Amino acid sequence: MRIRRVLLALVLSLAGLTGLTGLAGPSAATPAHRVAYDRYSLQVDGRRILLQAAEFHYFRLPSPGLWRDVLEKEKAAGFNAISVYFSWAFHSPAPGEYDFTGVRDVDRLLRTAEEVGLYVVARPGPYINAETSGGGFPAWLKTVPGRARSSDPGYTAAYHEWLAHIDPIIARHQVTRGGSVLLYNVENEYAVNTDAAYMQDLQDTARTDGIDVPITTNDCCDAASWSSTWGSGPGAVPIPGVDDYPQSFQCRAAGTTWGPWGAGVTERVRDDAPVFAAEYQAGAIDLDNAGYDACRDLTGTPYTKYFPKGNLILSGATAVNHYMGFGGTNWGWLGQPNDVYTSYDYGAAITEARQLTAKYFEYKRQGYFLQAVPALTKTDASAAPVAAGLETAARTNPDTGTQFVLVRNGSTAPVSSTLPLGGTSLALTLPGHDAKVLLSGADLGGQRLVASSSELLTTAAVGGRDVTVLYGSPGTPGTTVLRYPSRPSVRVLAGAVRSAYANGDLRLDYEHRGLARVSITGGGRRPLLLLLGTDDTAAQFWRAGTASGPVLVRGTALVRSATVAHGVASLRADTDAAGAVEVFADARRVAVNGAGVRTRTTASGSLEGGLPGPRRVVLPALNGWRQRAEAPEAQPGFDDSRWTVADKSTSLSTFPPLTLPVLFSDEYGHHAGSVWYRGRFTGTGAEKTVQLNAITGKRGNYLVWLNGRYLGSAAGGVQADSDAPANPSPGEGRFAIPGGLIEPGTTAVLSVVVQNMGNNDDWTAEDSRFRQPRGLVGASVDGVSAIAWRIQGQARVDPVRGGLNNGGLFGERYGWSLPGYADRAWPAATSSVAPGVTWLRTGFGLDLPRGQDTSVALRFDGAPPNRYRVILYLNGWNLGQYGAAIGPQTDFVLPAGLLRQNGRNTLAMAVIAEEPSSVATPHLVVAGSQRGGVPVPDVPD
Ligand code: GAL
Repeated sequence: MRIRRVLLALVLSLAGLTGLTGLAGPSAATPAHRVAYDRYSLQVDGRRILLQAAEFHYFRLPSPGLWRDVLEKEKAAGFNAISVYFSWAFHSPAPGEYDFTGVRDVDRLLRTAEEVGLYVVARPGPYINAETSGGGFPAWLKTVPGRARSSDPGYTAAYHEWLAHIDPIIARHQVTRGGSVLLYNVENEYAVNTDAAYMQDLQDTARTDGIDVPITTNDCCDAASWSSTWGSGPGAVPIPGVDDYPQSFQCRAAGTTWGPWGAGVTERVRDDAPVFAAEYQAGAIDLDNAGYDACRDLTGTPYTKYFPKGNLILSGATAVNHYMGFGGTNWGWLGQPNDVYTSYDYGAAITEARQLTAKYFEYKRQGYFLQAVPALTKTDASAAPVAAGLETAARTNPDTGTQFVLVRNGSTAPVSSTLPLGGTSLALTLPGHDAKVLLSGADLGGQRLVASSSELLTTAAVGGRDVTVLYGSPGTPGTTVLRYPSRPSVRVLAGAVRSAYANGDLRLDYEHRGLARVSITGGGRRPLLLLLGTDDTAAQFWRAGTASGPVLVRGTALVRSATVAHGVASLRADTDAAGAVEVFADARRVAVNGAGVRTRTTASGSLEGGLPGPRRVVLPALNGWRQRAEAPEAQPGFDDSRWTVADKSTSLSTFPPLTLPVLFSDEYGHHAGSVWYRGRFTGTGAEKTVQLNAITGKRGNYLVWLNGRYLGSAAGGVQADSDAPANPSPGEGRFAIPGGLIEPGTTAVLSVVVQNMGNNDDWTAEDSRFRQPRGLVGASVDGVSAIAWRIQGQARVDPVRGGLNNGGLFGERYGWSLPGYADRAWPAATSSVAPGVTWLRTGFGLDLPRGQDTSVALRFDGAPPNRYRVILYLNGWNLGQYGAAIGPQTDFVLPAGLLRQNGRNTLAMAVIAEEPSSVATPHLVVAGSQRGGVPVPDVPD
């Protein structure tokens, strides 16, 4: 181990050149950087980094133009990194086939991260979990021998193939080569199986593939796993990470539950590596179908203050990844069926429709603070001052003496107390479930902060003075003490602030209310404009770095970036309403999105002007639906001679088939969506019952016909894993055969369409979960000795949309989901559908305002239907599944780029009905609209 670590240090130092990277993220200014770390933090070119990452899954946002939008929003909240799983399944529809183009262009993703200025924690698995089908394992791996997530040769050969494709892309984007990738994460919560040779091979393979940044892994259950303290053998990673989800995932409990999964204090597991919170809960999967708004409440602003912010001081973590920063969409058959439905919104700070929530602004308050005080990158736990009725904890930077004090109120009622800090006594009131990190003994720009009961948002040196923003809960008392060599001159520009100077300390007392402004000059220091706000008024500030220093902006809905040149501060910014904008910049003029803004100079020395809001958006009504029933496969005379004969007698699944032949769809190369079966047998006329078993994964179903007569449907099974104990007859359906349906001595045809809802994950690394079959697992007709089967699934991999977009419905096989399909001969929709599969299609034109980001969704009114389910296609992209058995979701986001914002669009709905039904059609809604945005090119068909 020692030798390996020394070698690594050598490699890292050889790879490094010169140049400094700012705390705010990677810079393209110098080609390559040196990465190192110690027990306190990561370092780039010797500069300590406080890594504040937001988890982002490119595969859940199939419009590369929008990647930049989300990444810029993360950056604008003060995150300086994203953490990214790379999904093997998303890139590989079949062994040896890999696609990194279009919506799969991860090189573009990493370039975008570089351009935006975000570090990347690269997480290529091979196992990623993430509520993805198979936990990221391609379904074809089910047919590869050898236990997955082990050093078995069969599995090893398969994942070597994946790493050989993904590693070179990641490697060329490492910080050490001038890129953004700062950490490489092997495996995912690999705590159940303990195959050290496998963990070691993942790291050795990465090194061989050119990965020279530090390697990490995220542990869940035994924090010490895969650290040197856990075992002296191979497999340990240099920087172990730990996952923490203190609030769990029962979103219905929002408001009543507080940390059922522990205190959420990330453990230190190695003395020679920083504390890394590899996944810190920032939202939740919706395990109890409460809807994601409830998940956002469960993990809302109080949680975000109390847990992740508190954890910073309690654990000293200097690298944190917040899971998720933006969740996105389980489009196509990407999702794992047990825990999620189409939306993977996650209750994250940025919604699936890319809108900023209240929680986003809490992350922003924290993110700006973390970047404002470099002393936080090196701290030790220290004695904390006591505040009666409140919990306190402290950390101190050993070099600067700067102290960080956590003050928390775990009760639901407000608590008022006093805190001795910096030699003074601070009056404090904390609302229920609130937490603050207070500072003492800090150099902030040209100022010296003795202590404050207000939290620091940011400080910016603008035009020869410091502009510092402090904040607290509205209506609570605030005190700030600053040190001066001599008495300064204090001018209160706005608000009620009392000041007193004695013995070098300037003491300011105030109540947090609105935005007070205090100008302090003289006293032997650089001038200071102190802005004293509330949580809300502080969070209105945007900070953007420019080559000539930072810019602060207030009044816009977002600031994406800024430059200052020739006296003009040019902002790329979004507005969601017309209103005032205030800019603190070393500039005389302001331009926003390329247009000059008429401004005046305020008493605060800022520039103030007015900005227009977004233009009104009128969306077209969706009408003109056409309708066509399909499922000719149900008819006895249907020609299935080109379908695959299903006659296997063995399978690698740990689940034994209930009858032979093996009918598991993966055995015949059909891995996603619906699969058709046709079985022939010679009847006697005496048959009474068809008995079927199908495993679909949770939320799935299947429909059955005999000689063209619909016999009924059944719910598909879930089998033999920790979510569903072994069931001798999973997904059972018994269907009575009507008298006279089978003529004696003739061939009868049984037709079955089974939905595959995606594969289970393999979280426990024991194969039985992800290798669980999909499709029919048992089929018999009483008195019939043999049924001859054929199977048909997806006809081909869609070259643009990929292998997870389509299943094998007739309409999917014949292009009914695609925009170019000629449906003119289809009759006008009646919306009445018979049991089976029926398609509805319509088109609509859009001409959304340009230079404006309008997020559009499709909405079904009322509760999701019980007896039919819908697969939704926008321009051929499978963007959702709707139905009561699937989930509570009624809004489906239509991402710009897939949605032709200025052109024609085609919507198709495949309706799978268990009973005669009347189908509700959806309408378009605006999920958010801002002037600004980023250009989003159409994703080519
Ligand atoms: C973690 C896992 C993630 C994701 C998360 C829940 O345990 O590492 O991949 O599944 O739970 O959303």
